[in-house]
Amino acid sequence: MCGIVGAVAQRDVVDILVEGLRRLEYRGYDSAGVAVVGTAGELQRLRRLGKVKELADAVAAQPVPGGTGIAHTRWATHGEPSERNAHPHVSGNITVVHNGIIENHGPLRQALQAKGYVFNSDTDTEVIAHLVEDELKKAGSLLAAVQNAVKQFSGAYGTVLMDKTDPSHLVVARSGSPLVIGLGIGENFIASDQLALLPVTRRFMFLEEGDVAEITRQSVTVYDKSGVQVERAVVESNASYDAGDKGQYRHFMLKEIYEQPSAINNTLEGRLSNDSVLDETFGNGAADLFKKVKHIQIVACGTSYHSGMVARYWLESLGGISCNVEIASEFRYRKSFVQPNSLLVSISQSGETADTLAALRMAKEAGYIGSLTICNVAGSSLVRESDLAFMTRAGAEIGVASTKAFTTQLVGLAMLTLAIGKYNGLTAAQQQEMVTALRSLPAKLEETLTLATSIETLAEEFADKHHSLFLGRGDQYPIAMEGALKLKEISYIHAEAYAAGELKHGPLALIDADMPIIVVAPNNELLEKLQSNVEEVRARGGILYVFADIDAHFKSDATQRVVNVPHVHPLIAPIIYTIPLQLLSYYVAIIKGTDVDQPRNLAKSVTVE
Ligand code: M6R
Repeated sequence: MCGIVGAVAQRDVVDILVEGLRRLEYRGYDSAGVAVVGTAGELQRLRRLGKVKELADAVAAQPVPGGTGIAHTRWATHGEPSERNAHPHVSGNITVVHNGIIENHGPLRQALQAKGYVFNSDTDTEVIAHLVEDELKKAGSLLAAVQNAVKQFSGAYGTVLMDKTDPSHLVVARSGSPLVIGLGIGENFIASDQLALLPVTRRFMFLEEGDVAEITRQSVTVYDKSGVQVERAVVESNASYDAGDKGQYRHFMLKEIYEQPSAINNTLEGRLSNDSVLDETFGNGAADLFKKVKHIQIVACGTSYHSGMVARYWLESLGGISCNVEIASEFRYRKSFVQPNSLLVSISQSGETADTLAALRMAKEAGYIGSLTICNVAGSSLVRESDLAFMTRAGAEIGVASTKAFTTQLVGLAMLTLAIGKYNGLTAAQQQEMVTALRSLPAKLEETLTLATSIETLAEEFADKHHSLFLGRGDQYPIAMEGALKLKEISYIHAEAYAAGELKHGPLALIDADMPIIVVAPNNELLEKLQSNVEEVRARGGILYVFADIDAHFKSDATQRVVNVPHVHPLIAPIIYTIPLQLLSYYVAIIKGTDVDQPRNLAKSVTVE
């Protein structure tokens, strides 16, 4: 989704701004722009449709000197992707960049047009520029003008404004879209994600909902939603500076697939004893809360929703507790029944997904006894607003297609099952068995990754296909769903997932030789049932691609390609079977020549609903 970078410094900032945008590219965007105020108060603005590279080339061709500037990558919501709709937008002396959606932009636009303001774009953002210019005529400062303007917005915004007549400061405002201030020495910065600023600082101040702040070279002054000056904590980030580099890999997605053994090792580290999960794993007070919990409601979107679906199988069969899982965008608008002593669990890689965050906020009013987030980004909105947090420690995930975030979420959810289960009948022997299984994961993942070469060959058979079907049963059904999501999002092949037992209730009608069927088949109690489902497909001329436990005795033949997956404990099988599906999607996308790390139309972090 859109990205913001801003700076107030003595040195020229354009390179910092463009590098910041480059580091935010992974979020997904369609155009980019930068505006800088020079020492004589002249504003230079450059905008380009397409990649940040186009903007960087434009900056190289036309130097943009100046110490105060703002930059943006846009993911179109209102108005097509084009140079005229790209940010920054300008009204008189005011220049603005904005993430989010101003939902009442229509009436505001009409009122401003009636006052004579001329709109040069189709964006909702341009109303911010004109409205702040209008308010500045009445208010004594840019800060006051922004404070007055934001009261008139409904919707979501993370916005940064600059007045070319006074480049000593930027004014920023946050509601519903994240902003983080980067603190330098004699210079300060702003961004929508700390990753953008890691080359210039490691000290960050995260703004809260409703905050408006004034940033100069020497100071940062924050006001809360009622206009009262407040202090916000400064945190030292230990995020990796190199997170933005692909290293030896051709794509971030491939790098992140191969990082899974170490990411999971990090996620496990220091959290398990020999036979249980340590109480502090989920934060202070977790044990007291978990003792009281009688029901779990999980909310999440996309891939994170799929990890929640796996967790439901674990929590109910091992954790001894009832569990519902719901897509956050549905949950937030539905009047749901809150069971007594319910815990709300949100799952998110970014911690900023608008629907998941809204579901958490709604749940706070609805009578849940507490909230826990399983999240990958420290300091994100979900982490700050939840009572408890489990950090997945996957490291920065840059590829839009989620990989290591998913498998580390599953590890966190398996540990949650242990932590809750010990109050609900999970025996000491079962706990010890689960701990041993979790500890075996990094090595088993390394072994599974060696399947890459055979999966790369298999991928060639998918290149001319338009549709595909993924099948699984039990806790492998969500893994089939995740496999289908991966394939469709990066290869653009239509993919659907079905619980294999549901085939004969409709989808069997689709089976023919042009519809590859991908099956995940660990050696578990549902294997025989699954084998029957596979035979139903074979009998109707379907071509099968079966990822099967080495002991499950599936054989390759003319209509069935079998890839043997290492035998593992059933608890970790969903994590292990995710790997071949990730690799399959990746290699199919390579053959199809798509933009693997930034697939069309998609954004990494979906901060608008
Ligand atoms: O940051 P989140 O985990 O909350 O994001 C949720 C989804 O937007 C995300 O998982 C999306 O489905 C991925 N692109 C899937 O690969």
